[in-house]
Amino acid sequence: MSATTGSVPPTGSVLIRAVRPYGEGDPIDVLVVDGVITEIGSAVTASEGTEVIDGKGGVLLPGFVDLHTHLREPGREDTETIRSGSAAAALGGYTAVFAMANTSPVADNSTVTDNVWRSGREVGLVDVYPVGAVTVGLAGKQLAEMGMMAAGAAGVRMFSDDGKCVDDPLLMRRALEYATGLGVLIAQHAEEPRLTIGAVANEGPTASRLGLAGWPRAAEESIVIRDALLARDAGARIHICHASTEGTVELLRWAKDQGIAITAEVTPHHLLLDDSRLETYDPVNKVNPPLREVRDKEALRQALAEGIVDCVATDHAPHAAQEKCCEFAQAKPGMLGLQTALPIIVETLVKPGLLDWRGVARVMSERPAQIVELTDQGRPIEVGEPANLAVVDPDTSWVVHGPDLASLSANTPFETMTMPATVTATVLRGVVTARDGQVTR
Ligand code: DOR
Ligand code: ZN
Repeated sequence: MSATTGSVPPTGSVLIRAVRPYGEGDPIDVLVVDGVITEIGSAVTASEGTEVIDGKGGVLLPGFVDLHTHLREPGREDTETIRSGSAAAALGGYTAVFAMANTSPVADNSTVTDNVWRSGREVGLVDVYPVGAVTVGLAGKQLAEMGMMAAGAAGVRMFSDDGKCVDDPLLMRRALEYATGLGVLIAQHAEEPRLTIGAVANEGPTASRLGLAGWPRAAEESIVIRDALLARDAGARIHICHASTEGTVELLRWAKDQGIAITAEVTPHHLLLDDSRLETYDPVNKVNPPLREVRDKEALRQALAEGIVDCVATDHAPHAAQEKCCEFAQAKPGMLGLQTALPIIVETLVKPGLLDWRGVARVMSERPAQIVELTDQGRPIEVGEPANLAVVDPDTSWVVHGPDLASLSANTPFETMTMPATVTATVLRGVVTARDGQVTR
């Protein structure tokens, strides 16, 4: 695995004034020189030419790590590019994102994964880590050359057929064995496809009333438990993408109690929204897995606070207007997430007292970095550590307006909602990548 750092050269110095690391204590200053935190204290002085960020007493966190982003390049550059998605990520406080493999062509070989990696480095706003496909063409029939992708320039460390489930249990077993040998992670989109044919909404009273075909919880939960058992037997690690049900939480709890090496993520939209949103039939609320019920989102919030669900991942899924502004059943599933993730975690976990800012650092940065074994992300805010940082103004709210987001698409379900906190600056290895709502390169 050769790739551990991105393209932004660690040069020069940045002084972040008046910030509270992890929201604790009085505001202090943080000096960064050549990509590394060199001093933390009050009234820190800096040499001439140092870029100064006024943190205004806000919260300083380690830069966020997103294990689940769709950047749409190659193939659908009309909806997102590595540049536009990187900009959205930097503005959202992210310093690393994992770009899913369901591009066109599919990222099932090292030519594609290395190109995504190189493009991410060229853009230089965030470390873009390509995710490799588990199976050729995401077709679920034949394992992709995971070893070649892991050995390439991108050093692919996570594999997923996301968008589709690796539903063949024997193939999944082989994938887990192969991944264990390579020291890489398999991330599963848990959806038993035979149970979700034609499904567009959570199976329940809302879908019945609205006449929408239901996506049963068992379609997710049966794969979660199957893969937990396969991972147990293979001595493998398994990561569950976008956990969405109360039952999945209970299965994760059981599997973790057994000592199975299972981790899971939850999306901001599954923490904030539920299927009552479907009343309008607006496809902006269509997503896979679907928005569930109130009890599911409450269970997911608790599970994230407790650590049963390890981390937040956006499943940032840009789609063109013509793919979203159509009949519900025909619309593509997915919603934007990178620029709204942090404030939604503030709304759903910090404000209700389920997480403090240390907890936010854990679920947005530290745990995701650990899950994919990044050594330079999700690090403590301490002298000698790499300066991958996000500055958050916890009290300044803003109103979401899709076209104003950096994404080339505008499919946000949070349109007109007030977000309670603002990311004011992002620093990638000592280089300021976003500041006051603008990217810097
Ligand atoms: O809603 C979703 N959109 N879920 C997925 O699994 C895939 C994603 C996409 O690629 O649009
Ligand atoms: Zn998925």
